[in-house]
Amino acid sequence: MTRFSKAGFILATAGSAIGLGGIWKFPYLVGQNGGAAFVIVFILAFILFGLSIFVIEMLFGRESEQNSISTFETLAPNNMKFLKYGGLMVISGLLIFSFYVVVLGWLFHYLFLSVIGMPKTLQEAQEVWGEFVSGSIGYQMFWHLLVVALCAYVLNKGVKAGIEKLNLILMPLLFIIFAGLLVYSVMQDSFIESFKFLFSPDFSKLNSQVVVEAIGQAFFALSLGVGVILTYSNSLPKHGNFVRFAVIVAVLNFLFCLVAGLVVFTFIFGHGAEPSGGPGLVFVSLPLIFANMGVSGQIIAFLFFIALIFAGITSAVSMLEPLNSCLIERLKYTRKRANLTSISIAYILGLVVLFSNTESYGGYLTFFDKNFFGWLDYITSSFMLPLAGVFMCIYMGFILPKEKVYAMSEGHLRGIYFKTWYFTIRFIAPIGILSAMISLI
Ligand code: TRP
Repeated sequence: MTRFSKAGFILATAGSAIGLGGIWKFPYLVGQNGGAAFVIVFILAFILFGLSIFVIEMLFGRESEQNSISTFETLAPNNMKFLKYGGLMVISGLLIFSFYVVVLGWLFHYLFLSVIGMPKTLQEAQEVWGEFVSGSIGYQMFWHLLVVALCAYVLNKGVKAGIEKLNLILMPLLFIIFAGLLVYSVMQDSFIESFKFLFSPDFSKLNSQVVVEAIGQAFFALSLGVGVILTYSNSLPKHGNFVRFAVIVAVLNFLFCLVAGLVVFTFIFGHGAEPSGGPGLVFVSLPLIFANMGVSGQIIAFLFFIALIFAGITSAVSMLEPLNSCLIERLKYTRKRANLTSISIAYILGLVVLFSNTESYGGYLTFFDKNFFGWLDYITSSFMLPLAGVFMCIYMGFILPKEKVYAMSEGHLRGIYFKTWYFTIRFIAPIGILSAMISLI
């Protein structure tokens, strides 16, 4: 079996984790949910649920060296082989991929706009965005197809030659761009305001909806609950402290979310824009600000959208890998055939997502208060990912004997660390996640 190098594993996993979730979704969720209160719940969820379940996925993947369905089957006691169906969580990856690539397509369009010229007034910026999403079906389909084709190309090359290589190139570039953006922001007056917005909480803004969104966001940002970490851990280097890898990836990802928030809100506050702009924050407010900054704005816009695209592509390619790995190992598909299958389904679903935003077809694709896009995002982030997390906690905490779990960690989780983690995955994480979800109903 070809294994990741250590750097390759860390970069590929960080590449999967760091993405539009952290850079696009996190800032707008913070803005919509009242700033620091959301950030604090997110931090708690990230450490308590995120990091501990990240380690679970690694242990599973490393122990079994198989896809998620086979993992849950092989490790189950004889009378509980039905647990393999938990492996169907790989389907969430397909669903997330379907809308994720649509957003990536938008980013390509905005990258293009950053070169040819962006709207200069608020009204224009809103119109450009509105008309693009609800009217420009042709453009959107073009960019969407381009992104899907790019992902298909990388995935066809496999984990080592495709995914690892892509990340080895794009991730360092992303770090450099982000470091530059951060330095630029720190030098602005509005940085302090942005900092306060993220770190001084107003707890009256908290409610169960916010808590569930923060938990969902922690899962989404760490790529948990789909089997991505599990599948990548199949090819973990045999030696090395993998718990440390988990911490490195989590910390890197966390820093990215915060830096993205700080940078975005520095621009937002510096130019008197509204922080609660929702998904349009990055597509309306920021382009408008950049457009009014002259040449430096154009350069920053270009770098910002390129960074988002790099971060997004390295995440997108990870989402289908768990499903592909099931198709290859369980149904004996060749990699090409597995890819073709998952990419084709995702492409078609993606078209439905794209049409659900348009004026002409949106009406047919809106159910209750959300369109198809909204539903896919909501059902995966707020239900499927957290539930998969609970499933894995119960599996590792109660179905597997403690000695077995301890042995699986090969001494990388010892003493108080093991005890704390074990207690968290048995009680704190599942109870916390479930009660947050129940409080929504
Ligand atoms: N973590 C990525 C982001 O923040 C998205 C992502 C990639 C993902 N793979 C995933 C989310 C698997 C959930 C599950 O953008």
